[in-house]
Amino acid sequence: MKKSNSLAVVGAQWGDEGKGKVIDYLASVADVVARFQGGNNAGHTVVYGANIFKLHHVPSGILNAGTLCLLGNGMVVDPLVLVEELAELQKRGIDTSNLRISGKAHLNMAYHKDLDEANEKLLGEKKIGTTGRGIGPAYADKIMRRGIRAIDMTAYERFRERLAGILPLQNRFLKEIYDHAGYDLDELAELYRPALEKLGPMVADSSQLLVENLNGGKKVLFEGAQGALLDIDHGTYPYVTSSSTVAAAAATGNGIGPQHISQALGVIKAYTTRVGEGPFPTEDHTEAGDQLRERGNEYGTTTGRPRRCGWFDGVIARYAAMVNGLTGLAVTKLDVLSGMDEVNMAVSYRCGEEVINNFPLSIEELKECEPVYRSFPGWDEDISRARRLEDLPAAARNFLDAIEESVGIKIELVSVGPDRSQTIICKGSNLESWIASGQQKKS
Ligand code: GDP
Ligand code: IMO
Ligand code: MG
Repeated sequence: MKKSNSLAVVGAQWGDEGKGKVIDYLASVADVVARFQGGNNAGHTVVYGANIFKLHHVPSGILNAGTLCLLGNGMVVDPLVLVEELAELQKRGIDTSNLRISGKAHLNMAYHKDLDEANEKLLGEKKIGTTGRGIGPAYADKIMRRGIRAIDMTAYERFRERLAGILPLQNRFLKEIYDHAGYDLDELAELYRPALEKLGPMVADSSQLLVENLNGGKKVLFEGAQGALLDIDHGTYPYVTSSSTVAAAAATGNGIGPQHISQALGVIKAYTTRVGEGPFPTEDHTEAGDQLRERGNEYGTTTGRPRRCGWFDGVIARYAAMVNGLTGLAVTKLDVLSGMDEVNMAVSYRCGEEVINNFPLSIEELKECEPVYRSFPGWDEDISRARRLEDLPAAARNFLDAIEESVGIKIELVSVGPDRSQTIICKGSNLESWIASGQQKKS
């Protein structure tokens, strides 16, 4: 069998690593970009020139005309939000006719959002700090085998019938546990009718489409949302999202075989951030943390919440490399570190008397871990115009070398600013060859 020309791009921290920027950059040489998990909890920002796009469902490849964009079966899709997202893109002159939605993707409905918010309220101090978008309840319904799927959007009567089947139960939860008025079937079904009319024609067998493209040698990008430490299995459970965010999920979340995922690029910031609750060993409550937030503009794309900030954590990076099987790293936001007196990196954790190099299994142990830092001299130069590694000051290169050494994976891309153009592709990397083969094909 011919080797697939695909690349999974996944978050290697707690989300917001800059996946949208990296995907948009690589999409210029890709034929297909497919999301495989999550929903509109994701906020992926793409910047080129004066244009800023914030994408939630839609793959970041949409801004490259002619790229087939797929919402895979592993996603949960909010029809009302997706319609708005598409309208906004169209208003700004973006062609969205190349978007297809897997008929097997699940629908994230109004009551899921209510249940999410109500559940968080009920948890009080123990809340997860979700994005409030209904993600957990939508995945719960999928696993409980009572969800409504995207294929049901293609026929209003079938959609209404499915809704009639599930609504009495959801209303009981809402009314009896969460003190919510609940929904009227007719009103709710009608609320969705216009969205169904718009989205129904986009529903497709995306797995079939993908396999045809992969077998035809087309270049496919799999766009991850969230990050390894938010993965339902491998993340800091229960402070995680409700889907599999790792590279292997690109197979199950798109209905293709694992042999089609030939490379996995882990996107990782040159420091660390997290939104929501849960342990974060390198979180910095001093001035350095505030500096990172302000310089890096670390406020949520989806919720506007200030992100918690701290230094690069080599322990979680190694762990993310392991659970994803990363073949390369894309280090983003290196420019944000310019002007810091010194930059730090956690190389291991001190847990009581012990020093550990591997990410602990229990969250209780993780909460007790103190990072063991290695310090590096900072640099003052503005590096946002660097386009080759040689353009970077020695101190910045030194820090990148230390990241490579700590993670044991080659850095293939370095991002030095939010704009598409502010990107360094490392010479001799697999990514460079991947891009070059796409350029040949497209030219
Ligand atoms: P995603 O969820 O992984 O796609 O990341 P977000 O878009 O939520 O957050 C990353 C933020 O950093 C966005 O505002 C990007 O425009 C911005 N960004 C991405 N790469 C860089 C970079 O190298 N430098 C700077 N300064 N900003 C960047
Ligand atoms: P992108 O794709 C950062 C976090 C929430 C919360 C937890 C559970 O932009 O990187 P959920 O709403 O999914 O049930 O929330 O996961 N979270 C994210 N944090 N970036 C994201 O997406 C996130 N999506 C969810 O803050 O801690
Ligand atoms: Mg984001």
